[in-house]
Amino acid sequence: MTALIETLIDIVGASHVLQGNDLQAYEEDWRQRQRGKALCVVRPGSTQEVARVVKACAAARVAIVPQGGNTGLVAGSIPDESGTQVLMSLRRMTAVRGLDPVNQTITVEAGCVLQSLQEAAEQAGFLFPLSLGAEGSCTIGGNLATNAGGTQVLRYGNARELCLGLEVVTPQGDLWDGLAGLRKDNTGYDLRDLFVGSEGTLGVITAATLKLYPKPVAQLTAWAALASLEDANRLLGLAQRQLGASLTGFEVMNRQALQLVDKHFPHLRVPMWQENDWCVLLELSDNESEIHARGLLESLLEGALQDEVVADAIVAESLKQAHDLWHIRESITLAQTQEGHNVKHDISIPVSGIPAFVRAADAALRAALPGIRFVNFGHLGDGNLHYNIQAPEPSDASAFVRAHEDQISAIVYDMVSKHQGSISAEHGVGELKRHKLAEHKSPVALQLMRSIKSAIDPLNTMNPGRLLVAPN
Ligand code: FAD
Ligand code: MLT
Ligand code: ZN
Repeated sequence: MTALIETLIDIVGASHVLQGNDLQAYEEDWRQRQRGKALCVVRPGSTQEVARVVKACAAARVAIVPQGGNTGLVAGSIPDESGTQVLMSLRRMTAVRGLDPVNQTITVEAGCVLQSLQEAAEQAGFLFPLSLGAEGSCTIGGNLATNAGGTQVLRYGNARELCLGLEVVTPQGDLWDGLAGLRKDNTGYDLRDLFVGSEGTLGVITAATLKLYPKPVAQLTAWAALASLEDANRLLGLAQRQLGASLTGFEVMNRQALQLVDKHFPHLRVPMWQENDWCVLLELSDNESEIHARGLLESLLEGALQDEVVADAIVAESLKQAHDLWHIRESITLAQTQEGHNVKHDISIPVSGIPAFVRAADAALRAALPGIRFVNFGHLGDGNLHYNIQAPEPSDASAFVRAHEDQISAIVYDMVSKHQGSISAEHGVGELKRHKLAEHKSPVALQLMRSIKSAIDPLNTMNPGRLLVAPN
């Protein structure tokens, strides 16, 4: 091991091989539920350095865990407890390599923070539409490795749909340059799509070419209160019919989720949560003018109020008010964390089935564990709900999660399967859900995935023990 560390120091320099006590931030997951122990953290500064580090680790048969912003929610970016894995942080690789305004693409290194990428696009008059609560610290490499979703998927798709090309270092340390920003390329197996969503198990993403869009002329945000998820689905249908592709966001939040934001961040002044079971945040992006956009949104909401689909609604009067409303939505995750450990389920169901799923899952869980709190929110327009469970009040949240997580998740995931859904809509599988994946994915699909893994990474040195479990 000492020989490997000396080689790594040779490649990246002593100040970029971290050992000992300063690894805390790299070894613990964002939810502070799991902690591993790394042999060392290596921080390469270029693709060539990544390739040399991977080659050295492969020669020593030492596993690598790639890490971007370490904001993942399924514990896939931290090492195991063995103290033998090399954690590779991509955070030094932040360069914007180029922007092609005619092709409408931007090429960036994997460690570029999502918000910096959005800002680089904006400075050139474009929109990079991937948007999520962790955008101030997550990296584009991590977004692609998890095929992240967020709040604009309804209009622009997941990270996968925004990716036109990748540069990847394979588990053998070879470089695949697939960065060409082609919108059409039918030359066999789609390697790009294989690496997107592979959670660091097939190679290290070092750079990506991404789609840009013209910046909308106006963006307006509205907040509406509703009595039920059925009404939320009705409002979604109306908005899709009346606004078409201009509807860029449709987020739902239940009372309990907003109550937690109100409790932990009272200065955010959450509107309408006390009197209503559900609130919805809508975003309209318009290419004509703000007046045009406001007219469309007001007419949608007036109709919905008249038809009693919504109980109350406001359209943000200023950019600041719009930003404040979005800030409330993005604060739910942190408010939940402040409330204590919880059980998360990032599920997707066909949108039409979501109200029935929630009714059935609520009833089954209430019967099993009276007093639990349901914190539900998410990207209703994509059929993606964060169906989360918080311990009853008052109780020791960590002890409750330790005692009941498996029981709760088994009930929820069985219900998801009955509703033809997925147990991971956008967060990935990581360490947290790999056993659940093995239960809920078909044997044929699992076997195909294992074949791909062993063909590309026969030594199993890329993020081993993540995503897939070995067959029994
Ligand atoms: P990390 O956490 O560092 O890594 C995630 C996974 O990707 C790990 O398996 C890691 O090994 C792998 N990986 C990282 N970089 C590379 C690379 N260069 N090459 C190969 N593999 C790599 N997700 C959503 O989809 N939608 C949301 O709305 C959303 N909101 C969030 C809000 C908050 C407050 C937080 C904390 C998280 C949220 N997430 C959301 C989770 C989401 O997965 C991450 O925020 C983000 O996509 C991960 O990026 P990261 O750079 O932090 O990756
Ligand atoms: C979100 O939509 O806010 C994220 O996916 C984070 C979460 O589920 O907590
Ligand atoms: Zn989400």
